Amino acid sequence: MPAAYKIHEHTFDMVVVGAGGAGLRATFGLAQKGLKTACITKVFPTRSHTVAAQGGVAAALANMGEDDWRYHFFDTVKGSDWLGDQDAIEYMCKEAIPAIIELEHYGVPFSRTEDGRIYQRPFGGMTTRFGEGPPAQRTCAAADRTGHAILHTLYQQSLAHDAQFFIEYFALDLIMDADGACRGVLALDMSTGELHLFRAQGTVLATGGYGRAYFSATSAHTCTGDGGGMVLRAGLAMQDMEFVQFHPTGIYGAGCLITEGVRGEGGILRNSNGERFMERYAPSVKDLAPRDMVSRSMTIEIREGRGVGEHKDHILLDLTHLGPEVIHEKLPGIAESARIFAGVDVEKEPIPVIPTVHYNMGGIPTNYHGEVVQLRNGNPDEVVPGLYAIGEAACVSVHGANRLGSNSLLDLVVFGRAVANRAAETVRPDGKQAKLAGDACDEALARLDKLRNANGGTPTAVIRDKMQRTMQADAAVFRTGETLSDGVRKIREIHASFADVKVSDRSLVWNSDLIETYELSNLLGQALATIVSAENRTESRGAHAREDFPERDDTNWLKHTLCSVAEDGTTSIDYRPVHMYTLTDDVDVVPPKKRVY
Ligand code: FUM
Repeated sequence: MPAAYKIHEHTFDMVVVGAGGAGLRATFGLAQKGLKTACITKVFPTRSHTVAAQGGVAAALANMGEDDWRYHFFDTVKGSDWLGDQDAIEYMCKEAIPAIIELEHYGVPFSRTEDGRIYQRPFGGMTTRFGEGPPAQRTCAAADRTGHAILHTLYQQSLAHDAQFFIEYFALDLIMDADGACRGVLALDMSTGELHLFRAQGTVLATGGYGRAYFSATSAHTCTGDGGGMVLRAGLAMQDMEFVQFHPTGIYGAGCLITEGVRGEGGILRNSNGERFMERYAPSVKDLAPRDMVSRSMTIEIREGRGVGEHKDHILLDLTHLGPEVIHEKLPGIAESARIFAGVDVEKEPIPVIPTVHYNMGGIPTNYHGEVVQLRNGNPDEVVPGLYAIGEAACVSVHGANRLGSNSLLDLVVFGRAVANRAAETVRPDGKQAKLAGDACDEALARLDKLRNANGGTPTAVIRDKMQRTMQADAAVFRTGETLSDGVRKIREIHASFADVKVSDRSLVWNSDLIETYELSNLLGQALATIVSAENRTESRGAHAREDFPERDDTNWLKHTLCSVAEDGTTSIDYRPVHMYTLTDDVDVVPPKKRVY
C-alpha cells in the first residue's frame, strides 16, 4: 500500500453518492426509515444537475384532461421502442401519482391551474387511450424551472431529517470485497485533501449521467458519470450504453437546453423554407413526437439542405406566436437563456437550435428496487450485495432505447424513494458492518497515487477534447458501421493514451487537475462502452439509428446489452433479456409493434 495516506473511517448503514434529485430523495428517505445515512457529493447539493431540468415531471394526475397511469405505461413502453423492462415501467408510472402528490406536500412550488391544481403541459410521446386518443397533458410543471423547484425542496426535506452531508467530497472508488459485495466507498475531501472511507451496509450510486463524454451536451460539466466509472473499475458491466438521447432543442453553438415544454406550449420547429416540417415526419403528433424522432427529422432537414444560418446547419424554434403572456408565465427561463446564449428576443425572433446530447438511457443495471444486478452463473438478475444505483446513473430500465421527456425527473423521485423502501426491508439499523480486509483500500490508493503523480506528456484537457470530438462525430444521431468502427478505433487509442496523462498539480488540496483526471477516466470507460455497444448492435431502435440497419430487429435484438471495460481498455459484451412482463394484473404487457406516431 502506498505510504502516507491517512484515512478517516466512518460507519453508516447507508451511504448515498450524489445529491441530485435521486440522491436527495434516497438520502432523506433512508434517514426517515431510521437508517444512519451519509450523502457524499462533489458539488453543493443545490448545484447538482437536476437544478437545470426545465419542462416538468410526468404523472397521470388528470388535472387538465383525461388520463390514466396505464396510458402513461403504454406510452413509456412504446417510447422505449420496447427495450424498457415492463415490470419497472409499471412500477414507475403507477408510483408517479403518489410520488408527485408527496412532492407537492413537501412544498414544491408547482404552477397552478385556475382551480388551484398542479399545472400539466403536453410533452412528446405522451398520449391518451393507449396511443389512440389526443395528446395527454401529463407533465407537471413549475414554469420552466421544474428541476430547480424540486431540487431545492428535496434539499430542504433532507435538512429536516437526520442525514449527514459530506459536501465537496469526490468519490474515488468503490470498496468491494472478495465475494463481490460492495462494502462502501473511498472519497477525497477536496477542500482539505484528506481521505475518507465510508463503510456501509449499502452504497447508493446517484451520480448522474456521462453527457460530458460528448463535445456538445445540455449536461453540466460535472456530468462525468463518476458512478459508472467506479462500477466499470469494480469489474461490473454497464447496460444499454449505445442509447444516447439527443434533445432536439439545444441552443445552436452554446448547447444550453431549450425545454420541450416550448413545443408543449405550442412552439414550432421550422426549416429554411419556414415550413413546419414535423408534419411530414409525425403527422399526428408533429412537433411533439418523441425526441429520437424529432432529432432525426431535424438532422435529415439539415442534410437535405433545408437547415438555416450561414452554414445551413441548424433549425429554428419559433414561439413568436405564443404571445408575451404565455412566455412570461410559462417559459420565463428559456426566454432568458435565449437572450443570453443566442442573443434572441423570443417574442420577436425564433431560437436557433440543434439536436444536442442530453441523456444516457444506458447505465448501471438495476432492478426496480434500485439494486444493482449482473449476469452471473446464468442468472441475468443476480443482485450485487450492498450496491444500488438510481437516477440517470442507473439503467432500471424504464427508458429502454429512448426516454420520453419528463420521465427523468419522475425516475429520480420514484426510484430514490424505492431504494429507501427496499433498504428499510433489508438493512438493519445500526447493523454490524461486514469485516473488511486490511488491504481493502490498497487498489484505490495505488490508483490515487499513480494519477496524482502522473508525469506523462499529455494534459488531461487534450485527451478529453479528443474523446469529446470523436464521440460527437462518430456516435451521433445517425450511425453507420463505418463511422462506428472508425470511432471504436479512435476511442480505443484515446483510452490507451490515458496511460500518458500528465497531472501538473501534486497537492491534494483543491486539486482540480487531479479531479478532472479522475472524471476523464470515468468518462473514457463509458465512452468506450458506448461506442463498442453501438457498433455491436446491428439494428435501429429508439435513439440508436443505424443507417446500415434501418429496421428494428426483435428477433435478434430484443435484449439489453451488457458491456464491461477493463482498465487496459479490453471490452466484453453480453446480454440480459428484456422483462416482457408486468408486476401485477393491473395492466397488460404491451407486445412489440411498429412504432409510429
Ligand atoms: O425539455 C425538457 O424540459 C427536458 C426534460 C427532460 O429531459 O425530461
